[in-house]
Amino acid sequence: MSEPQNLRFTDLHPSMGDSRAEILAGLAADRKSVNPKWFYDERGSELFDAITRLPEYYPTRTEKKILSDNAAAIGERCAENCILLEPGSGSCEKVRLLLDAVRPAAYVPVDISAGFLRAAAVDLAAEYPWLAIEAVCADFNRDWSFVESLPAGRRMVFYPGSTIGNLEPDSARQFLEQIRDVVGNGGGAIVGVDLHKSGDILHAAYNDGAGVTAEFNLNVLSRLNSLMDAAFDPGRFRHEAFYNEQARRVEMHLVSAEQQTVRVNGTYVDFDRDETLHTENSYKYTIDDFTDLAASAGLVLEQTWTDAEQLFSVHYLTTA
Ligand code: AVJ
Repeated sequence: MSEPQNLRFTDLHPSMGDSRAEILAGLAADRKSVNPKWFYDERGSELFDAITRLPEYYPTRTEKKILSDNAAAIGERCAENCILLEPGSGSCEKVRLLLDAVRPAAYVPVDISAGFLRAAAVDLAAEYPWLAIEAVCADFNRDWSFVESLPAGRRMVFYPGSTIGNLEPDSARQFLEQIRDVVGNGGGAIVGVDLHKSGDILHAAYNDGAGVTAEFNLNVLSRLNSLMDAAFDPGRFRHEAFYNEQARRVEMHLVSAEQQTVRVNGTYVDFDRDETLHTENSYKYTIDDFTDLAASAGLVLEQTWTDAEQLFSVHYLTTA
């Protein structure tokens, strides 16, 4: 495929061996889990896109309104000619709300899903011919080596969607420290964070009537089947999602409908009836909690934008 003039693509996807070992460790643990990054194969990215349009799933539409209502103010904070990095860029939809206001010297979308990233970057390149795009396929949870080859300029990280909610608070702090190191003195970050709220709203958002979230959750089993030469039968698991109020997180699980043994990568994994495979945490924060979390990572929360109902928040952070 011939690439547009204003697009460069770098593939740093982790090796299969590393990925397999990581997944096997999660399946062998006492409480089985799989990292939610494995949701995002081609099909998973499509399903997530469908989730963002569901009537019950308020975060995407609310955040997009916050971004478009405040694009000019956000643009002022970013400074023209910055290098704008977006870990987990997905469809690159949200950045479109900011590009005309921010006018970055380069945009660096980073995503683990190579095919989806390439397609999104090609579309974006055609739509914004003035924009230099440096797309990087990488697992940004562990590999930021690509920043070494970026053009010079003030670095801004754009991390919307409450992707940070997938991380345990301790890992979220480490991740923010990583951002602080990557942007360096004088850099900044725009971070979208879902807010703590009534359990009913959260329950509905992760248990939609059309069953798209259930399909998204179950799709990780097909992903495991192809990555791990495994034999998970999605028909023998069911979707479960609930708000763990104490921990302030929505938990998603796949519940085994029966006692079963599943072949995985040349070995076998046993599930009791009703035993779960924990597939995702989605942490919710109060603005105060997030301010403290950022401060613990050496970042100063300079400004917060939110919607009238205080469902979602977007924060501007700088290095201390
Ligand atoms: C992409 C992690 C922000 O936690 O709401 C949506 C993923 N999972 N529905 C979220 C998700 C189930 C989403 N994040």
